[in-house]
Amino acid sequence: MTDQKDRAVWGSKFGFLMAAIGSAVGLGNIWRFSYVAYDNGGAAFMIPYIVAILVAGIPILIVEYGLGHKERGSAPLSFYRGSKKWEGIGWWMPTIATIGINLFYAVVMAWCLRYIMFSFDLSWGANTEAFFFGEFLNIKTDLVQPDKSAFAFGAINWDILLSTGFVWFFCWIICFREVNKGIEKACTIFMPLLFVLTSILVIWSLTLDGAWDGVKAYLFDVHMEKLASIDTWAAAFGQIFFSLSLGFGIMITYASYLPKKVNITKSALITTVCNCGYSVFAGFAVFATLGFMANAKGVPVADVVDKGPALAFVTYPEAINQLPFGNSAFGVLFFFTLLVAGLSSGISLIEALTCAIVDKFKFSRGKVVTFICGMGFFGSIVFTTQAGLLVLDIVDHFVNQYGLLVGGLLECLFVGWVVKAKVINKHINDSVDKGMRLPKIWNFFVKFVCPIILGSILVAAFYNDVTKGYEGYSAKALNIYGTLFMVITVIIAMVLAFRPWVDIPPVHHEHEDKIFDA
Ligand code: ALA
Repeated sequence: MTDQKDRAVWGSKFGFLMAAIGSAVGLGNIWRFSYVAYDNGGAAFMIPYIVAILVAGIPILIVEYGLGHKERGSAPLSFYRGSKKWEGIGWWMPTIATIGINLFYAVVMAWCLRYIMFSFDLSWGANTEAFFFGEFLNIKTDLVQPDKSAFAFGAINWDILLSTGFVWFFCWIICFREVNKGIEKACTIFMPLLFVLTSILVIWSLTLDGAWDGVKAYLFDVHMEKLASIDTWAAAFGQIFFSLSLGFGIMITYASYLPKKVNITKSALITTVCNCGYSVFAGFAVFATLGFMANAKGVPVADVVDKGPALAFVTYPEAINQLPFGNSAFGVLFFFTLLVAGLSSGISLIEALTCAIVDKFKFSRGKVVTFICGMGFFGSIVFTTQAGLLVLDIVDHFVNQYGLLVGGLLECLFVGWVVKAKVINKHINDSVDKGMRLPKIWNFFVKFVCPIILGSILVAAFYNDVTKGYEGYSAKALNIYGTLFMVITVIIAMVLAFRPWVDIPPVHHEHEDKIFDA
C-alpha cells in the first residue's frame, strides 16, 4: 500500500490562493455577472447576491476546503473516506464540471482567441450581430425557433474547432506537470496579469464619452420589485456557485494539496472577497462601455444591454467599432482579458477530474491529463457545430440551475450529518496556524440553513421550468440537452464509483511541519 507522502503540495500560500482565485475568477465574472446583475434588478441584485455569498458561498467554500483538507483527497476520495456509500457524489461533481462545463468553456475560450485575431482589422464589420451568429457561428436557422436550431448541427466550424484544439493543448501543457510546477506557476502569472489587464480596461472604459451613464445604470438603476421573483434569487445563488467554482469538486481537490497547518477560514474569505470584488470591478468596464455605446447611438443604456455570450461577442465589438481611437488595442485587451480569466478556470476544471482518476486508479498523472484533454477536445466538437451555441445555452442553464446547487446541497448534508459539521469544524480550527478561527455558527449553517435554502431554490426553479419552460425551447430540446444529459452524468459517476479502488492510502499530511509564511 502506498501512502500519500508523495502527494503534491502547493509551494506557498500565495500559490494556493492564486490557483483557487484563478479557478473562481473566470469567464463568468466578466460577462455573466454583469448581465445577470442587470437582468435581475440592477443594483438591487446586490441584496440577493450578498445574501447568497453569506448564507451559501462562504459556508460551502469552507465545507469544500475543510473536507478536502481533512480527507486529503480529490472529491471521490474525500467522500469515500467520509462514507463509502457517498463516493458517487464525489464522482458526480467533477463529471458535471468536465462534461457540463469544461467542454463548452474551452469553446468559448476559442471564440476569445478568434476575436483577438478579429480585433486587429475589426473583421466583424459593422453588423456585429450578423457576424457572430451568421458568419462566425454559422447558425443557419432563425434563432426565434431555438428548438429547430438546437437540432440543426449542420457542419463543424473548422476555425473554431482548430482554436478549441489549441486551447485544450495549452491547458494540457499546464496540467501535465505536477500542480506546484504547472497550475500553481501558471496562476501566479495569470492572476496578477489579469488584475493589471482588467485595471487598464476599467480605466480606459471610464474615460469614454457616456461611460458614467453606464455606471449610473449599473449602480443606481434599482428595481426592487425583482426581489419578489424566485428567478432573481435562483440567479444569485447560481451565479455564486458558478463563480466560486462550488459543486465542481475543484476546491476540495485544491485544499487536498495544502499542508497540515493552514488557515482554511481565512483562505475561504480571501478567495470570496477577491472573486466577488473582481466581478463588481469588471462590471465597471462592461457598463462604462455600454454607456459609451448607448451615448454614441443616442439610446438609453437598457437598449444596448445584451444577454449571455452576445454581450461579449456582439455588443462589445459594436462598442469597439465606435471608439474614436485604439479600436484594435481595446479589442485585443478585452478578449485577451477574457481568455486569461478563462484559462485559469479551465485548468482547474481539468485538475478536479485528473486528481479523482489518479487517486482511484493510480494511473500516471501525465496519461490522465492527456486522456482528459484529448477526450475533452472531441467532446467539445458538439459546441463547434452550427447548433453549438444553443446546446451550450441549455446545458449551461441545467448545470447552473440544478447540477451545481444539487452538488452543494448534497455536500452540506454529507459534511453536516454524515461526517458531522463539528468534526470538520474542529479539524479546521486544529489546523489553524495563526489568526481567525471558524465559529460554531458555521455548523448550524451547514446542517440547516444551506440545505433548506438550496432545497427551496431548487424546488422553486424546477417548478418554474416545468410551468414556464426555458427561453422558449421545446420540451424535446430541454429533455435531451437538459434532463437526459443530467441522467448521463449520474450514470457515469455511478459506474466510476462502482469500480474497485486500486488502493486507498491512509490520510497523511505531507510536510507536517510546513507552515505557510504569508
Ligand atoms: N468559476 C469560473 C467562472 O466564473 C468557472 O467562470
